[in-house]
Amino acid sequence: MYDGDIASTLVTEDDIRAKTAELAVRIADDYAERCATSDLLLVGVLKGAVMFMTDLARALPLPVQLEFMAVSSYGSATSSSGVVRILKDLDRDIADRHVLIVEDIIDSGLTLSWLLKNLESRGPASLAVCTLLRKPDAVKVDVPVQYVGFDIPNEFVVGYGLDYAERYRDLPFIGTLDPAVYA
Ligand code: XMP
Ligand code: MG
Repeated sequence: MYDGDIASTLVTEDDIRAKTAELAVRIADDYAERCATSDLLLVGVLKGAVMFMTDLARALPLPVQLEFMAVSSYGSATSSSGVVRILKDLDRDIADRHVLIVEDIIDSGLTLSWLLKNLESRGPASLAVCTLLRKPDAVKVDVPVQYVGFDIPNEFVVGYGLDYAERYRDLPFIGTLDPAVYA
């Protein structure tokens, strides 16, 4: 599949599975008490977070509900500007709910920073972030991220939900693209 397009594997399928299980234990631990009377609400950011969201939901040993949001950050195909537009909003009110945003990747952190402000204004009982991947630049901005799967180098990655021109989302691992693909 995608013969020759993938230059290297950064995070294997096994790595992802093990890390997801590890994060699930931490999250379940942190939320067990708070979510005894109302289910944890996972908010996934479409489309990149879909694979991680569904695997995380199944790994979590506590009841969760799923909501999705789609946003677009104006900018080029491979970098964001921080100006965000909602393409699809949540279907339900999140007031007084314990909300965990599930992200595929935090790069500059601009998208997440906007999303946190937006969701915070809706009055959730609590708001936290779980991301599978984080790039070095994200560490420079002041966005609190409670759960991080992997810190990765500053390279464009695809797979496991992440795309280049809508392709490669279906790969079960995270890899880098051969430069010839961009050309
Ligand atoms: P910021 O910079 O706002 O960007 O944190 C977050 C969004 O940018 C996309 N993004 C990537 N998508 N491979 C991708 O397929 C990457 O390496 C990459 N880096 C950033 C992604 O949509 C993310 O939610
Ligand atoms: Mg994308």
